[in-house]
Amino acid sequence: MAYFAVLGSPIDHSLSPLIHQTFAKEANLSIDFQRILTQQGSLKATLAQFRLEGGQGACITLPLKIEAFELCQQLSGAAKTARAVNTIYWDKDMLCGDNTDGEGFYHFLSQDLALNLQAKRILILGAGGAVRGILGPLLKTNPASIVIVNRTVEKAQALISQENLKAYHYESFAHSQEAPFDLIINATSLSLTSQIPPIEAKWLKNTIAIELAYQKKSQTQFQLWAKEHGAIDTHDGIGMLVWQAALGFKRWHHFLPAIAPVIALLRQEQL
Ligand code: ATR
Repeated sequence: MAYFAVLGSPIDHSLSPLIHQTFAKEANLSIDFQRILTQQGSLKATLAQFRLEGGQGACITLPLKIEAFELCQQLSGAAKTARAVNTIYWDKDMLCGDNTDGEGFYHFLSQDLALNLQAKRILILGAGGAVRGILGPLLKTNPASIVIVNRTVEKAQALISQENLKAYHYESFAHSQEAPFDLIINATSLSLTSQIPPIEAKWLKNTIAIELAYQKKSQTQFQLWAKEHGAIDTHDGIGMLVWQAALGFKRWHHFLPAIAPVIALLRQEQL
């Protein structure tokens, strides 16, 4: 049976096996999909063992995406731009890396939410790995501007590659004239501790607020806060999660599975 896995640490709660097995059912494929706990620094050894055992491809999750990027002998354009890898496979004996996070986010926005971002104003909170992944696909939608606000402003500045991109830290952003925004994306890891990014609530009025994290069945703290302060609509990261997995599945099996039933399944499950 074809053997796949998700590698990361922690890994116990990864939804990848459920998502990929659901896709496989639709594609009429029998696959073995395991969670493999892999500590930082040991990805190379784990992948060698996985390959020996017949592994054909793997999802790479936190905190290994940069290590995977460094190990791969061949990289897709998306992986190069993001400087991170979330999907690996082998071409003969060559380890190949792709990054489907950004494209997954883009497909979620454009297909599931039917959002047209052309000439829209976008605010991104955070400037970590996730933002490196989504920035390229967002720029392809021709927004009017993208403002990136980050605690460490140098990391936001390092992402500014063209005129319609701007970087701020939270203090200078508070005094800026950048509002209003059509779309606000929370890509900070503050969500992991249910904290709200330090921006004024008034920025949320009449925006669509999306955060890349997700939280079981209920809405995240950021979603609730955004709604309370006038956001038109809010979303969590489940759509992006399923889309990035689907694009990885397509890379391995040449089959793009349906997204909506898997999102619905995850919402029902006791995750
Ligand atoms: P990911 O791969 O999920 O993007 P990351 O690379 O660790 O994770 O990035 C986390 C983001 O959350 C960063 O933008 C980080 O800000 P710094 O670059 O200044 O570290 C942001 N973040 C984490 N804790 C924060 C806090 N207490 N206040 C504001 N931003 C925070």
